[in-house]
Amino acid sequence: MRGSTARIVLVLNGPNLNRLGRREPAVYGTETLDAIMDRLHARAQALGLSLETRQSNHEGHLVDWLHEADDRGVEAVILNAGALTHTSVALRDAIAGLSVPVIEVHLSNPAAREAFRHRSRIAPVARGIIQGFGALSYLLALDAVAAMGQERATTEKG
Ligand code: DQA
Repeated sequence: MRGSTARIVLVLNGPNLNRLGRREPAVYGTETLDAIMDRLHARAQALGLSLETRQSNHEGHLVDWLHEADDRGVEAVILNAGALTHTSVALRDAIAGLSVPVIEVHLSNPAAREAFRHRSRIAPVARGIIQGFGALSYLLALDAVAAMGQERATTEKG
């Protein structure tokens, strides 16, 4: 049963997010991806979750990792697909085929930016979206995963 596996949360970061800290700091802040992921690891530990974090600039890697998440029955995926959010039917289809919940996150608030960022191909198949809070978006997504787990446990107890 899924609930009995180790409580692994997979965090996937897409194109250009490896450049955080140097990349458009006025939009994305000055913190590096490693620094944000370190904070996320600390929070995961406090929440009793085991975190794995990955980044790739290649769409196919993200598709493979989404399939892997499902095969392993991880608790949830937190996904910042970067610009692929707005273009990738392949990511959308991969997520649609998973039973693992995927939480879409963004540092910035794409809805308040250029029109081409207003559509997310992922949003319709995501469990939920957290965007616009900078690095905090990832931390809030992790809190959501923990809260969903608690809710499930309460419901299962009856
Ligand atoms: C982003 C928003 C996307 O529109 C952009 O292409 C990114 C980063 C964010 O985290 O704010 O690469 O996903």
